[in-house]
Amino acid sequence: MTLKGKRLLLGVTGGVAAYKAAQLARLLAKEGADVRVAMTEAATRFVTPVTLQALTGQTAWTDLWDPRVPDNMGHIELSRDRDLIIVAPASADFLGKLAGGLADDLLSTLCLARRCPLLVAPAMNVEMWENPAMQRNLHTLRGDGVHFAGPAAGDQACGEVGMGRMLEPEEIVAEVEAFFQPKLLAGKHVVVTAGPTEEPIDPVRVITNASSGKMGYAVARASREAGARVTLVSGPTALATPTGVECVRVRSAEQMFEAVKKAAPGSDVFFAAAAVSDYRVKNRAEQKIKKGAAAGLSLELAENPDILAWVAGQKNAPFCVGFAAESEKLVEHARAKRAKKAVPLLAANLAQHALGADDNEITLFDERGEHALGRAPKLELARRLVAHVAGMLAGEKRARAKA
Ligand code: CTP
Repeated sequence: MTLKGKRLLLGVTGGVAAYKAAQLARLLAKEGADVRVAMTEAATRFVTPVTLQALTGQTAWTDLWDPRVPDNMGHIELSRDRDLIIVAPASADFLGKLAGGLADDLLSTLCLARRCPLLVAPAMNVEMWENPAMQRNLHTLRGDGVHFAGPAAGDQACGEVGMGRMLEPEEIVAEVEAFFQPKLLAGKHVVVTAGPTEEPIDPVRVITNASSGKMGYAVARASREAGARVTLVSGPTALATPTGVECVRVRSAEQMFEAVKKAAPGSDVFFAAAAVSDYRVKNRAEQKIKKGAAAGLSLELAENPDILAWVAGQKNAPFCVGFAAESEKLVEHARAKRAKKAVPLLAANLAQHALGADDNEITLFDERGEHALGRAPKLELARRLVAHVAGMLAGEKRARAKA
C-alpha cells in the first residue's frame, strides 16, 4: 500500500493508450490511493466511464456541466482536495491545450484551476512527438513545472517505431510513488554497483554467484526517487533498468571496475551493492574446454580488484556505502568489514534471508553503532537506507560548517 492516503485525480484523454488507463486506475487503487477519474469526451470513445467507475469505486466524471457536482463548480471542486493530478494518456492535443492555458472541457478546466502538482504521461505517434510545435509545448510545460512520466521509445499502435509510447501502467505507478518521496538527495550524483559478476573460464562457462541484483536496483531506484542523478553499473541480471537511471552493463569484475573508475570520481555517494567475484580465472581457455581433455582439470585464480576499497581510497572520495552478505556472525563480520573497507556506512544482511528474494532484513553499521532497518521489501529498505545516508551527509555538512 505505497500510496495509502494519497488523493489522486486521474485524467484520461483520447488515444489508443487509454485502454491502459483502466489498468493504471486499478493499480493506483490497489496501492491504497483514492482515485477520482475525469475523462475527456475523446477518451470515452476508447474506454467507457463505467469501466473506470467499476475499478475505482467512484464516479468517473466527464462533463463540465454535470449537475451532480456541489454548487455546480465541478471545474474547481473536483481537483481542490487532490494531492496530484495524473493525466495518462496525455494526448498531443491535450498537451497543446495545457501549454496554451486553454480550458474548454472538464479535464482541461480542472488542470487550469488546480492547486496541486500535475504529472503527465504522454502518448502519441512519433511524428507528432517530434513535431516542432509539440517540442515547443513540452518546453513550455516543463517551464511551467509540469512533471513528465515518459514517454518511452518502442513499437506504436500505429505500426511505427519511435518515441511517444506511453509508459506501462506499472511504470507510471512507480513514477507516482517517486513523486511522493522526499527529495533527500536532490542535486547529488549517486553511483551504484549491482548484481553478480561473471568471470569467464572459457567462451561458454563462467564463475559467478547467486546475486539477483534486486537490492542494488532498489537502491538505484530509491536514490533517483530522492532526486539524485543515478549511474547504475550492473553485472548480468534479468532486471529492467529503473526509469530515469543511467545503466552501464558489464560482465566481469574488471569491466565493473573500469566502469566505476569512469563514473565514481566527482560523484557524491557510492553504493557498492554488487556481489563482485573475488577471483577471476587466470588461465582462461580461448576455446571451449572439452570433457576429459585434462585429468583433474584445475583453474588458476587471480584476485580481482576491490572496487569499493579503490573508490573509498580516492582523494575527495564520495560517501561510500559497503554491503555485506554474511552466512553467520553478522554483527562481528559486519563490524570487521566496515573497518577493513574503511567506509562510513555498511549495510549487512544474512545471505540466506535475501538471495533472490523480494524481501530482506538489513542492519546498518556506522560510527554511532548499529541501526536495524527491519524486514521489508527491498525497495522499502532501500528508501530507509537512502534516508539514513542523507542524514549522515547532512551531519557531515553541519560538522564542516562548524569547523
Ligand atoms: N566489493 C567490491 N569489489 C570486490 C569485492 C567486494 O567492490 N572485488 C564490495 C562489495 O560490493 C560489497 C563489499 O565490497 O559492498 C563487501 O563485499 P564482500 O565480498 O562481502 O567483501 P570481501 O572483502 O570480499 O569479504 P569476504 O571475505 O567476506 O568475501
